[in-house]
Amino acid sequence: MPSLTVITRDETRHQIEAEVGLSVMEIIRRAGFDELVALCGGCCSCATCHVYVKAEHLDRLAPMAGDENDLLDSSEHRGDRSRLSCQLKFEAAMDGLEVAIAPED
Ligand code: FES
Repeated sequence: MPSLTVITRDETRHQIEAEVGLSVMEIIRRAGFDELVALCGGCCSCATCHVYVKAEHLDRLAPMAGDENDLLDSSEHRGDRSRLSCQLKFEAAMDGLEVAIAPED
């Protein structure tokens, strides 16, 4: 099965199995990482699923939609590598993707 590397806020790296077709948020939540709150359940209205994508992996992702971009603007921790993990559908070609959970707003 493809894998996803998650860096938690204590800077620990975790390599987890990633099911194709789930969102990156769902994969992280199902693996038991509660620090990624994902309050709205994935409907792009809370920004509590904010992650930083490894720079070299950004071009493996679908472009950001306008509503994701607008919502990320509400985060004081937004950076060049920010994405909302609920909006990233995991595909086989994303095997090895690395994301870090952003600080809490
Ligand atoms: S889970 Fe709420 S915006 Fe992603």
